[in-house]
Amino acid sequence: LASLAGAPLVGCAAAGSAPGTADAHGCATAPAVITATGAHQAGIATVPPSYARWLAFDLVAGSDRDAVRRLMTVWSDDIVRFTSARPSLTDIEPELATDPAALTITVGFGPDLFTKIGLEAARPTWLAPLPSFAVDRLESAWSDGDLIVQLCAEDQLVLAHAARLLVREATTFATPRWVQNGFRHRDASAQPGRTMRNLMGQVDGTRNISPTRDSDLLWVTGQPQWLVGGTSMIVRRIAMNLQTWDLLDRAGREASIGRRLSDGAPLTGDSERDLPDLEATDALGLPVIDTFAHIRRARSDNPRERFLRRGYNYDDPPAPGAVDNAVEQFVPIQRRLDELDLLNTWTTPIGSAVFAVPAGFEKGGYLAQSLLEA
Ligand code: HEM
Repeated sequence: LASLAGAPLVGCAAAGSAPGTADAHGCATAPAVITATGAHQAGIATVPPSYARWLAFDLVAGSDRDAVRRLMTVWSDDIVRFTSARPSLTDIEPELATDPAALTITVGFGPDLFTKIGLEAARPTWLAPLPSFAVDRLESAWSDGDLIVQLCAEDQLVLAHAARLLVREATTFATPRWVQNGFRHRDASAQPGRTMRNLMGQVDGTRNISPTRDSDLLWVTGQPQWLVGGTSMIVRRIAMNLQTWDLLDRAGREASIGRRLSDGAPLTGDSERDLPDLEATDALGLPVIDTFAHIRRARSDNPRERFLRRGYNYDDPPAPGAVDNAVEQFVPIQRRLDELDLLNTWTTPIGSAVFAVPAGFEKGGYLAQSLLEA
């Protein structure tokens, strides 16, 4: 792949059955301290700050349920400390942990973890790799994993320090599998109501679910019982071919999405929040929003086929040589985009991973306690 840039698209969706809380996507400035404890893990419904990192781990052979229980106990304590600007118990650089920087740390479990620790019966049925799509060029180096940790913060040093400690404390239980860094337009976290732009220059994230109004789409309320208050997380690493994108004129770029580059308004509207008119035709009788434009292909008439998008950009150099559940909410959209989406000419999914994200924990408790002590 000749791409230098891309976007990890992270989707969160409920994975149980019907009706949880939070703030509208991008509609509030991220506060400096985001409380880690509560009904849901932080870092899902909270405003995405400027930087993110995903750390996927594989369990070390022989790690059993008790090992995971110990790791969750240690990590839960770390999470509460780091997010409230206190060093972890084993921190030998405590000065690096004194700025909360809107840090959130969110933990999820991959499909194989359940088999490896003898809890196969507790694995949600949807928790498996996504079906393969024709556009996929997935590489195992950026896919899957037994555990995921998502760190988000306004300060890269705070984020990197917390990440390093979490990796170090996991050493005897789990080893890093892949790491994905991401960044967002600072405008979007600093100014209420602003939508970020991606590296293709597009306003990205306009039509998204609201964690408050659409909470039933976000939080698990049914089965499995241990996941109630949790959610599911799909991480897609998508390479953008910016070299060929650069060759396209502005009209072509706008047509591929169906929105204006200047302000993100649909090609049939005046401002970003206007609803696209998919029926509108031009003087020649052709649709104003192309038949295969991304916003036409990505929208759904099924109100359940929606999920929270938390997109981030990345600009790593190319590698050498190279719902009711998550599946029900995400796959139909990805399938439609797979069949036909103008954006496919410049974008290629190269990493994919699915995780179950347990509910939040309270002071004195720890992540996934009801699963691990059942
Ligand atoms: C690098 C790849 C991608 C880029 C650059 C991209 C960019 C965009 C942009 C600019 C918009 C319009 C503004 C907005 O409503 O946010 C949009 C909308 C959307 N995208 Fe993507 N997208 C990508 C991949 C995907 C994938 C893989 C999915 C899901 C499988 C997806 C799902 C959606 C949805 C659901 C919408 C809102 C559609 C609507 O209701 O109007 N996108 N995307």
